[in-house]
Amino acid sequence: MSSAKGIKLVDLDADGVDRAFRSDVLAGLRQRQKAVPARWLYDDAGSQLFEDITQLPEYYPTRAETQLLKGLSAHFAERIGTGRAVVEFGSGSSVKTPLLLQAIDPAAYVPLDISGDFLRASAEELRSKFPGLSVYPVEADFMRQVELPQEIAQLPKLGFFPGSTIGNMVPRTAVDLLRTMRQTLGEDSQLLIGMDLIKARKTLEAAYDDAAGVTAQFNLNLAHRINRELGGTIPVEELNHEARWNDDYARIEMHLVASKAIAFNVAGVAFEMAAGESIHTENSHKFGRRSSNTLLLAGGWTPVARWLDDQERFSLILAEASIPRSAP
Ligand code: AVJ
Repeated sequence: MSSAKGIKLVDLDADGVDRAFRSDVLAGLRQRQKAVPARWLYDDAGSQLFEDITQLPEYYPTRAETQLLKGLSAHFAERIGTGRAVVEFGSGSSVKTPLLLQAIDPAAYVPLDISGDFLRASAEELRSKFPGLSVYPVEADFMRQVELPQEIAQLPKLGFFPGSTIGNMVPRTAVDLLRTMRQTLGEDSQLLIGMDLIKARKTLEAAYDDAAGVTAQFNLNLAHRINRELGGTIPVEELNHEARWNDDYARIEMHLVASKAIAFNVAGVAFEMAAGESIHTENSHKFGRRSSNTLLLAGGWTPVARWLDDQERFSLILAEASIPRSAP
C-alpha cells in the first residue's frame, strides 16, 4: 500500500499485488506438493463464484451461521451487552453483520478489509441500515496488528470473525492471527467467531464438490487467473477439481488434479505434473468442541459461550481476552 500526500498510487499497488501473486505461484509450484495460497482464489471472478457457492444446496455453512445469528439476539444482548465497538475482520456481509448489530446496539462499527472497494461498499450499506451508528472503515491487512481509529479508543471492543474464515488457516497461522486480533482489540475485548464443525465425510465433501459444479469453477478459476495474469500456459481442461477430507488434520482440501501428464509455463518458468499429481489450493479446517477451545486458548482467548445451530453443523463461539481464573 503506497501513498504520498494522501494520493493512492494505484499502479504501484497493482504491480505490488502482481509481484506477490507471481512469487507465491512460482514458489508454490516448485514444491513437492504443489500449492498456491488460497487468498489468490478471490479475484473478482472468484469472489463472485464464492457468493454463488453460499447459495448452493450442498453448501450449508452460510445458511447455518445466518440461522444461528438470527436466533441468538437475546443471548448476544445478555453476554455482549450494548455500547461496544464492533470490529469486523473482513468486510461485513449484507446479511450477517446487521443481525449482530441489531442484537447488541453497539456504539460504533469498524469494518477492516484489505480491499478498499469492498470496504466502502459495505460501510455505506451499514450506514444506511443503521442511521445512528458511527461507522469507521479501516483499509488494512488484518493479519497484522491494526491501529484502530482514535474515536473508539475508550470503547470496549467486540471482534467479529464469521464464516469460519479461521478454518482457512493452518493452526500456526490461525494462532498468530488470534494473537494479533487480541493485540488489535486490547485487554477487555471479546471475540465472536464462527467455526465450522466436523461432521460426516460425505456431507463435507458434497459441500465442497457440488452437483452444479460451481465449486469446481471456483477452484479452476485460479488456473485461469494464473494463465491470464502471469502469462501461464496451464492446460486447464486437463485439471479436475477435487475436494478431499484429510482426517488427520480435520480439514477439507481443495486440489486441482492433472488427468494426464502435462507440462506448462508460468511467467517463463517450466513446470510438469504427472498424471494424478495435484496443486493444493485451499484448506478448510473443521472443529470440535475441544479443538476449537484449544485453538482459541492458544491464541490468547478464553471461550465463554458456544452455540450450535439446530442441526449441529456450525458453531459460534464467544471468547474473552481475559486470563481464565482457573489458570494455574
Ligand atoms: C470462505 C473460507 C469460508 O472454506 O468454506 C467454499 C471457502 N471454498 N467452498 C470455506 C470455500 C470452497 C470458504 N470460506
